[in-house]
Amino acid sequence: MCGIVGLVGQKNNVVEAVVYGLEGLEYRGYDSAGIACTDSGDTKIICAKACGELSALKAQLHEQPISGLAAIGHTRWATHGRVTLENVHPHFDCSGTIALVHNGIIENYHELGTMLKAEGHIFKSDTDSEVVAHLLESILDRGLSPKKALHELVSRLDGAYALVIMLGGRSDELLFVRKRSPLCLGLGKNKSAVVSDLVAFDADIEKYAIIPDQTYGFLRMGEVEAYSFDGFSAEITYTPHIHNASSRDRGGHAHYMLKEIYEQKGIVHRIVTALNDLGDEWIKGLGYTSASQASESLKKLTHVDLIACGTSYYAASLGAFFLRDIAGIDTSVTRASEFAYNPILMKNRLYGVVSQSGETADTLEVLRALKRQEQSVFGIVNVEKSSMAREADGFFAMHAGPEISVASTKSFTAQVVVFYWLALKIAHSKGLITLQQLQASEAELLWCGNKIEETLENNKSSIEHDAAWFAQYKTCLFLGRQESFILAAEAALKLKELAYIFVEAFPSGELKHGPLALVDQNMPVVVFSSADPLVYQKIVSNAQEVKARGGRLVVFGFQDQTALLNLAEKSYCVSGFSSYTQCDSLLGPLCMVAAMHYLVYSIAKVLERPIDKPRNLAKSVTVE
Ligand code: G6P
Repeated sequence: MCGIVGLVGQKNNVVEAVVYGLEGLEYRGYDSAGIACTDSGDTKIICAKACGELSALKAQLHEQPISGLAAIGHTRWATHGRVTLENVHPHFDCSGTIALVHNGIIENYHELGTMLKAEGHIFKSDTDSEVVAHLLESILDRGLSPKKALHELVSRLDGAYALVIMLGGRSDELLFVRKRSPLCLGLGKNKSAVVSDLVAFDADIEKYAIIPDQTYGFLRMGEVEAYSFDGFSAEITYTPHIHNASSRDRGGHAHYMLKEIYEQKGIVHRIVTALNDLGDEWIKGLGYTSASQASESLKKLTHVDLIACGTSYYAASLGAFFLRDIAGIDTSVTRASEFAYNPILMKNRLYGVVSQSGETADTLEVLRALKRQEQSVFGIVNVEKSSMAREADGFFAMHAGPEISVASTKSFTAQVVVFYWLALKIAHSKGLITLQQLQASEAELLWCGNKIEETLENNKSSIEHDAAWFAQYKTCLFLGRQESFILAAEAALKLKELAYIFVEAFPSGELKHGPLALVDQNMPVVVFSSADPLVYQKIVSNAQEVKARGGRLVVFGFQDQTALLNLAEKSYCVSGFSSYTQCDSLLGPLCMVAAMHYLVYSIAKVLERPIDKPRNLAKSVTVE
């Protein structure tokens, strides 16, 4: 979603560095971009804006270069107002001497806008953000200092916002404000920066700090002046910054998504090793402070509530199977946007938020609401410096590495692995399994980790061949049972977001209760099989029902499941894992996941979709 980069430099020109920062933020999803800059002594603020890809803005800057000692830039993902040049940030006041970029939502923008229009302010955009520029203008016009003006500004804005503000001619400083939306400061060689995501920093930044919530202040060369919303000095704590330029390249692959699909190889090993390295400290991930507290609490723990959005929701749904079946804990999973309305808070419950970014607004707001009610909340999070990682009582890092493509692939796999490991650890600590059983199960997890890429490679050429066949259909039905239904649902989400094909996922037992009416020779039906022998038998019966109606049956199955595989027009098989293998059938989806991702990727490629940045979507959804 929207991204912010603000820079104060020594060299005239910081515009290139802002563009570099915006390139780092591209992965979050955006539909337009803009930059403004100013020079010392010149009250003019110069601006360049373009709709569409950042390349359009870069082309414009190439044609008509702009330069200054301070600059602010923004990638916009439309919420208030369509994708038009007028709505692109930075936004200005009437005099053109205040420019600002904004992430989040100003909830009282309508009331403020009405009041400011009555005062004579002229608005140029449909955004909520522009209101802030005019409000600040009206406050400064009363002769207040910038510090006093910011103090009043924050008292009059409702909602969540990260703001970076430039005053014409003040090239030595930028103003910043943070309430709920993320914002970070960076200090380094020849420049100081304020950005909404650490990936926007370049190699010159030597140390960084997450701005505390409800803080405003001033960023200058090599220094920061910060105040909490109540006006007292705010403490800023810095961490050394290590720039990781390689996370920005595609590693020789055509798309980030393909790079990330391939990164799933070895991910299981890496995660299990890192989690085991926690030793006895693992209980801190659940928010417990001592082994005795953990052991007491885990014995009493009756229920875990998992909360997540999108792909993380499906990973959590598999996690619920693991926690129930392995650790004996009744577990429910709720979409964060729904949870907010109906939380039943009870004793001896543990809440878990699951998120790649750690910044998804719906999930973050649930976490904060639970914390306000003094509930225990743990996280499973990829971005270790994210808000969720900081605000939960404890968290488990997913160790998936930066994920750039909007659609989550490797982070799904990483979340599933963390959940499986966690279920084993809880089961062991509750005395449900012995240490030997725990180690044997971990070995099964690692064995399945090796199957991820093997299954992809074994089926790669059939998938590439079949992609064009899938691409001709406008609708599809995906089926599974138990754990394989979760994979079907995640696959359906992937195909919708990447190929724009309408897919409905159903537990295959529900087929006869409705979806079967849709099945004819024009309906591809993709069945995700289970390695559990009993579940498998039922899936075969459902596949027969599809076949009998002329449906175009496609199967993701396991070796030896010949009855099912023979029914299929097209099939993709996990070798060496049959219904009779001594391996937990709950791990079946893990073996299939990369092949499923590659099928979706290949279909989207045939359809020439913008694979890494699907239309209308964003990587990190930071508004509710
Ligand atoms: C967006 C992304 C999805 C992701 C979801 C949840 O919708 O496009 O890929 O699964 O957000 O994100 P999170 O960072 O909380 O896992």
